[in-house]
Amino acid sequence: MAEPGKSKFQIDLRRHLRESDVEDNLVHLICEIAEASKYIINSIRTGDLGVAGTSNLYGEQQLALDVLADRILRKRLDHSRVVANMMSEEEDEIIPISPDCEGKYSVAYDPLDGSSLVDVNLAVGTIISIFSGCDLLQSGRNQVAAMYILYGPRTTLVYSTGNGVHEFSMNHLMEYNLVQENIQICPQGSLYSPGGQRNLYTPGTEAFVQQLEQRGVKLRYSGGFVPDINQILLKGQGIFFYPHLQQKPKGKLRLLFELSPMAYLVEQAGGAASTGHGPILDLVPEHIHERAPVFIGSKADVALAEKFIRDMETKQSQKAAAG
Ligand code: AHG
Ligand code: MN
Ligand code: MN
Repeated sequence: MAEPGKSKFQIDLRRHLRESDVEDNLVHLICEIAEASKYIINSIRTGDLGVAGTSNLYGEQQLALDVLADRILRKRLDHSRVVANMMSEEEDEIIPISPDCEGKYSVAYDPLDGSSLVDVNLAVGTIISIFSGCDLLQSGRNQVAAMYILYGPRTTLVYSTGNGVHEFSMNHLMEYNLVQENIQICPQGSLYSPGGQRNLYTPGTEAFVQQLEQRGVKLRYSGGFVPDINQILLKGQGIFFYPHLQQKPKGKLRLLFELSPMAYLVEQAGGAASTGHGPILDLVPEHIHERAPVFIGSKADVALAEKFIRDMETKQSQKAAAG
């Protein structure tokens, strides 16, 4: 990709998108989101850490930062002239921007994932899922792009438009410059990132975790979906899961703006993303706030989790049949 003699590190986000033959309106949209991240960074660094006094449709208390980050992104998308519909974790329903779908995109986003971690100074992120046209209730396999921005010690941006996963880092001028292209996740990892409460895991997940521990796999869990996934992508190995729990068969994470975009990126990097019973990207959401359990990362580790879950469920149904 880099011109001979010119270090690829001077390739900024817009140039990389253009040189990857990404459609002009999509280049504009992704760059507008990158611009919005500069204002979100500022709100994280200086904003009020308190509650907004409202809650979202999941019944979760909204932090002032959630609402501020949502407003920053919504305004950007609204004025971009290339968005048909958008939906946010912080809004109760889809926000129509333009009835004309032609040449436009629809965006599902989590403006600030892990926002409750800001007051303890842990890394947080913005997650974006992009479809062509007006329909957001499609299988994640139809996404035309997915990206996240990670607000950590460094601010980085990772995107894919279906031709590999590429990482950018923000420089002192707040420009995103290319760090690496075509990130790959190897089949088996040596780290695991277990979400949810262990005492509520179902027997299959519990058995899977025990074999990870017997294998000496290291536990790495920050409680922030974006840094936890970013670690697996950049280390090129590992598995994150937020599984189905007893009494919570759908787990916690939302399909449209958390799981689908991350599943798209991880599959583009040669990894896998499963509900424990099948690919996340094959799910077609019935409503915008659908949740799903997730096992995501190194392909062989995800397949092993599915096997433990399947075997345990078979055993349980045989036991029930035997009465
Ligand atoms: P959000 O802050 O957007 O509501 O998402 C938080 C999510 C995700 O970042 C993380 O993986 C998960 O919540 C952690 O949940 P627990 O606090 O239950 O571990
Ligand atoms: Mn979230
Ligand atoms: Mn959020």
